[in-house]
Amino acid sequence: MTTAPNPTPRILVLNGPNLNLLGTREPAVYGATTLADVEALCRDAAQQKGAEAECRQSNHEGQLIDWIHEAGVAHRAGQLAGVVFNAGAYTHTSVALHDAIKGSGVPVIEVHISNVHARESFRHHSWLSPVAAGIVVGFGVDGYVLAIEGLLRKARPAP
Ligand code: DQA
Repeated sequence: MTTAPNPTPRILVLNGPNLNLLGTREPAVYGATTLADVEALCRDAAQQKGAEAECRQSNHEGQLIDWIHEAGVAHRAGQLAGVVFNAGAYTHTSVALHDAIKGSGVPVIEVHISNVHARESFRHHSWLSPVAAGIVVGFGVDGYVLAIEGLLRKARPAP
């Protein structure tokens, strides 16, 4: 008996406010890699794992919420494994993003390029962490690759 091949798992990579400035923004903290480089890294990492990554960035909380809602619908339809999300400073302020993740039911891996716990105390609290499926912090832009790998492992655990 032949079995149908699994459809290619899809991942949404979301970046929030100020991450469009990667490459020029505080390079001592965030490195010299641009957002375009990070997005290419994510697409390559997903492809190497037999998946597909779509990347989006917005500086607007409402736009990020709309995308999380959309991701929830796609996840329920079996069309999306989940979301890799660097919410930038909204991590520390946004009850609305917490509610969107919880309400949509989509698995979200929270990513931070820097080790937020080694920085100012206002970065130590995350509204996303309690509703995240996993958290990757402080690995530089490699954190996005680790998050993609982790999300795919959760979506299809090793036999
Ligand atoms: C960040 C950490 C946040 O505290 C900050 O506001 C960012 C980037 C990170 O990737 O390290 O914008 O999420």
